Amino acid sequence: MSKKEKFSDAGRLRTVSIAGTGSYMPERIMTNAELETMVETSSEWIVTRTGIAERRLAGESETTSDMGAEAARRALADAGVSPEEVDLIVLATITPDLPFPNTACLVQDKIGAKNAACFSLEAACSGFVFAMETARQFVATGAAKTALVVAAEKMSSIIDWTDRETCVLFGDGAGACVLKAAEGDKGLVHAVLGSNGALAELLMVPGGGSRLPFSEEVLRERNHYLKMEGREVFKHAVKSMTAIAQQVCAEKGLTTKDVACIVPHQANIRIIEAIGQRLGEPKEKFFINLDRYGNTSGASVIVALDEAVRSGVIKRGDLVMLLVFGGGFTWGASLLEWSK
Ligand SMILES: CC(C)(COP(=O)(O)OP(=O)(O)OC[C@H]1O[C@@H](n2cnc3c(N)ncnc32)[C@H](O)[C@@H]1OP(=O)(O)O)[C@@H](O)C(=O)NCCC(=O)NCCS
Repeated sequence: MSKKEKFSDAGRLRTVSIAGTGSYMPERIMTNAELETMVETSSEWIVTRTGIAERRLAGESETTSDMGAEAARRALADAGVSPEEVDLIVLATITPDLPFPNTACLVQDKIGAKNAACFSLEAACSGFVFAMETARQFVATGAAKTALVVAAEKMSSIIDWTDRETCVLFGDGAGACVLKAAEGDKGLVHAVLGSNGALAELLMVPGGGSRLPFSEEVLRERNHYLKMEGREVFKHAVKSMTAIAQQVCAEKGLTTKDVACIVPHQANIRIIEAIGQRLGEPKEKFFINLDRYGNTSGASVIVALDEAVRSGVIKRGDLVMLLVFGGGFTWGASLLEWSK
């Protein structure tokens, strides 16, 4: 490449597309019936209030990076990319193996991606979309050629199994995708992200950080576990996800009618139904697997996307929307044209 050719490319953003996806769900199934034996609840309450019938739990010694590494291997195989080709790993989690070093480095080691720069980010249940949009910037500018985006959660490690208001909702799992520059304009089309830190207290783990370092008192007060104001979170999720779904389309001169499949964060079927009503979109347009997995936080939309693609629900040429909401609060919508 001549100097002139090289510089003529400067400033040009590349189209970025998903070259492969993968997911990993642990084998162990926890049913609603099992939860009935642990807390004052009923399978009927859980199904009618949330849509969740069962969830997966990681093994005791199975870590977030173990699950993330397996999802990553599957995404690399799907993309036909070797671990050595990966030059960036961005991993989203709120349940890291360790406070530091970051879980992306641990996944790097497990899969042998020795040429990658690795970091993690935390955007709770919105984690995958925030991680994918971060990695997209690197690939679009040419700063990275092959990015691996991973979202993995061992929610069972921060759930209070005596709190019926939260323990029935969550599950463990991991998903991953490979991003590469693409010819033409098919790929990640547009994304909008949002946050509101003023509402942080509505969904959080209060203890174990610099505000309330781990101590006997944290343990006694059970402040190392997730706490949530469910009803408030529900309202904000519906409002923010509806608005951002409309915004991401409008900014491209589209409406949600142009979208073939919406892959929403899998928190609660009633949240998804309420968004569908507000958008005027039928339930069939939403890909749903929360009945089998519950809320796997940051991993939920990439696990759902992987399943939607593998089961043929999403086909080449379809316009797809990933739609997320989580603690922070954080929320986002990403439009992509499926081109694999
Ligand atoms: C948590 C959630 C399912 C609760 O459903 P809800 O319809 O709002 O229920 P409420 O909180 O109003 O509680 C209704 C009653 O059910 C009870 N209840 C709560 N959890 C229960 C359970 N697992 N089993 C049986 N009863 C339960 C409550 O104690 C309350 O009892 P009361 O009326 O005697 O006070 C719902 O608020 C929700 O999904 N919120 C969003 C959570 C979420 O998705 N978070 C992650 C987003 S990223």
